[in-house]
Amino acid sequence: MNIEVKRGEIDAVAAEVLVLGGHEDDTQVGKLAEPLDRSLGGQLQELRESGEFQGKRQQTVLLHTHGAVPPKRILLVGLGKRRENTLDHVRQAMGTAAKRVRQTGAGSFIAPLIGPDGTRATPADIAQAMVEGALLGTYRFTKYQTDLADEPKTLEAITLITQTGKHLKEARLGARRGEASAEATAFVRDLCNHPSNVMTPSRVVEEAKKVAQERGVKLTVFDRKKQKKLGMGGLLGVARGSQEPPKFIILEYSEGRKNEKPVVLVGKTVTFDSGGISLKPAENMEQMKADMTGGAEVLATVRAAARLRLRVNLVGILPATENMPSGCAIKPGDVLTMLSGKTVEVQNTDAEGRLILADGLTYASRLNPACIIDVATLTGACMVALGQFAIGMMGNDTELKGQLKKAGEQAGERVWEMPLWDEYFEQLKSDVADMRNIGGRGGGMITAAVFLSKFVGDCPWVHLDIASTDWGTTERPYIGKGPTGIGTRLLLQFLINRTDRRRK
Ligand code: BES
Ligand code: MN
Ligand code: ZN
Repeated sequence: MNIEVKRGEIDAVAAEVLVLGGHEDDTQVGKLAEPLDRSLGGQLQELRESGEFQGKRQQTVLLHTHGAVPPKRILLVGLGKRRENTLDHVRQAMGTAAKRVRQTGAGSFIAPLIGPDGTRATPADIAQAMVEGALLGTYRFTKYQTDLADEPKTLEAITLITQTGKHLKEARLGARRGEASAEATAFVRDLCNHPSNVMTPSRVVEEAKKVAQERGVKLTVFDRKKQKKLGMGGLLGVARGSQEPPKFIILEYSEGRKNEKPVVLVGKTVTFDSGGISLKPAENMEQMKADMTGGAEVLATVRAAARLRLRVNLVGILPATENMPSGCAIKPGDVLTMLSGKTVEVQNTDAEGRLILADGLTYASRLNPACIIDVATLTGACMVALGQFAIGMMGNDTELKGQLKKAGEQAGERVWEMPLWDEYFEQLKSDVADMRNIGGRGGGMITAAVFLSKFVGDCPWVHLDIASTDWGTTERPYIGKGPTGIGTRLLLQFLINRTDRRRK
């Protein structure tokens, strides 16, 4: 995809489609479109007056210009009420618009920067959101479809237009960030769309190798032998039931200052979660191919950080395995000795994420990190508590939590905090080991996080439970059915904010 930001007048640039946003409470064609409308003999105003275009969110109207102006077609897209407008509405409008453009068979479109009035969004934010919406709205995964006859044409180019040169540089930066963050999300969707017979832990290593070809990224992989030597009992325990060898993957991107402590990201990478001996019910089990979303997001974030050359020291850790039942699999009641030396009684083999993350977090805490963020499709309880619109957040550091909250709002991938009180540890007490891996009925998302907290020492740490958001069940403007990749843009935005702050 070719993405450009240019200076120009919207009625003067030749294009297959010109996309124009319109608000619900506007009754007039905006200032920007007035000269254009004059050339069109007042058609835009007429669409407003007749009520054919009201500016409601996701509403679209397409008109052909028959040579009256350089753009061949004009696509109006609704942004909703002006005072309710957010950056995410811009993203959504662009997702809707890009899909509609593709339906026309056009391969490209131009659009002026549309502003979410009333918010403090900069031209960079707007350009970023527009590019994200358009790219993610047209995402498809067709790898395993052999009959593509009816597939719509792919979009090849997007050009954003600013009238004044003043915003050009900023908008270009935003567009570049938008492209990187949308690409990262699409990468996660791809990784999680691949079935688990393809996307095995070994294949994840291959994907990590490709990422390590980016400038400044170093890859280390611990195989089973090394994991044994180090004592990664959590990862080895979960992997026991599988024919696929577990991998402990470490990516290091070091473009920060020399002695700057790293940000460490840890992602749950269960390439298929059958539940193990505590087998899951058959219904929807296929969705558990996406139980590696956390790891995929970490991998994609490292790649995007490298592409944007962010000034940060970053470590990505992916404990990768399948969770399968077999004659060798761990059984309820088994006790594992984790990398930290703590012992865990496995009362349910389906609570496997926390077992592999515990080793990832212990490893992370030994790197003298600035902070640790883990991201995981960890609990069904998260889905029950938050539905599909919020990521569960728990952590031990107020400032870090605040930074993630802000990044989430910017990215349109919002987090919601749950308590991480030590009282909940009562539920994790075991009669035979230091703790057990399930916390009983209440507060399943919280007890999982409390379990993880026992493996981070006193490092500033945040846990993100993305089990709520990782799988889409409905078509949304820029999020389709299946793997969503939600959380990726949040992580990248967190890093962008961090490096922007340091530059100032
Ligand atoms: N990967 C699942 C959590 C999950 C469920 C993610 C649904 C996405 C959609 C996790 O490994 C799991 O099975 N958790 C158990 C924990 C329980 C046994 C304490 C759960 O939530 O049921
Ligand atoms: Mn499980
Ligand atoms: Zn799982």
